[in-house]
Amino acid sequence: MTQRKIIIDTDPGQDDAVAILLALAAPDLEVLGLTAVAGNVPLELTQTNARKVCDLAGRPDIPVFAGCDRPLAHPLVTAEHVHGKTGLDGPDLPAPITPLQDAHAVDFLIETLRTEPPGTVTLCPIGPLTNIATAFRRAPDIVDRVQEIVLMGGAYFEVGNITPAAEFNIYVDPEAAEIVFNAGVPLVVMPLDVTHKALTTPAHIAGFRQMGTPVGAAVAAWTVFFERFDKEKYGQEGAPLHDPCTIAWLLAPELFSGRHINVEIEVHSPLTRGMTVADWWRVTDRPANAHFVGNVDADGYFALLTRHIATL
Ligand code: RIB
Ligand code: CA
Repeated sequence: MTQRKIIIDTDPGQDDAVAILLALAAPDLEVLGLTAVAGNVPLELTQTNARKVCDLAGRPDIPVFAGCDRPLAHPLVTAEHVHGKTGLDGPDLPAPITPLQDAHAVDFLIETLRTEPPGTVTLCPIGPLTNIATAFRRAPDIVDRVQEIVLMGGAYFEVGNITPAAEFNIYVDPEAAEIVFNAGVPLVVMPLDVTHKALTTPAHIAGFRQMGTPVGAAVAAWTVFFERFDKEKYGQEGAPLHDPCTIAWLLAPELFSGRHINVEIEVHSPLTRGMTVADWWRVTDRPANAHFVGNVDADGYFALLTRHIATL
């Protein structure tokens, strides 16, 4: 079986951590590396957290790189109010053993895409798109070599979570998102429209805990910590596990449904900065540039997640 090669660009974040664990547990995927970006918390913490997740998975061999520490054109906006001051609040994890690579994440992205055969590397950005956009700007030759981008970001029918108009990952670096959405790379977008249908339940959390493994215990503790904010905000019984939707798409795309449509990024208006303007009803003649996912089989999603996490 040929494994699908992926690079996860990430700002851990409890949901990022679960996405990374899912990818590391999946026999069908080869994780070429993790590239950390500033987002949920500053870069020093996101790179540290990415390394902690590799330790937890027993994978100190995974190359982890630090990338951009701020967006292209705005001061960094972080989300400690959601993820806690470490960005990975919940369980107490020891300082990481997995080393941080010397190379910059953007150089790793460029080098890997230039070295691997064209069309064989998928990028999975699950934080602000600063690293990806910087790599595309610095080395335009790599754009056509990307197999596909499967990202978590944006919102349309579900509206924003960090402003009334924008989802966090896109809001933090809308200029980077504009570059990525207009690069012409095959693009799959997992917006809040779908991730808000993948809500945790007490049974899911009990399932993680009953695995009786350090990984299961950590995922349960992350989920309990992470969901408190969204349960309070949305008044629901659970919280969305956003980022693992990207990895689940790679493993079981049949769990999802969406439309190939045009999606543009608002970069000018302070009021709607970072809004993903999705032409869901195709009322413009703007060319389709994204598979914008709107639905998920939530039971199937959590069954996939639990089945794979239990193997770590
Ligand atoms: O809006 C949700 C996204 O922002 C997720 O990727 C979460 O980890 C945060 O980065
Ligand atoms: Ca994230």
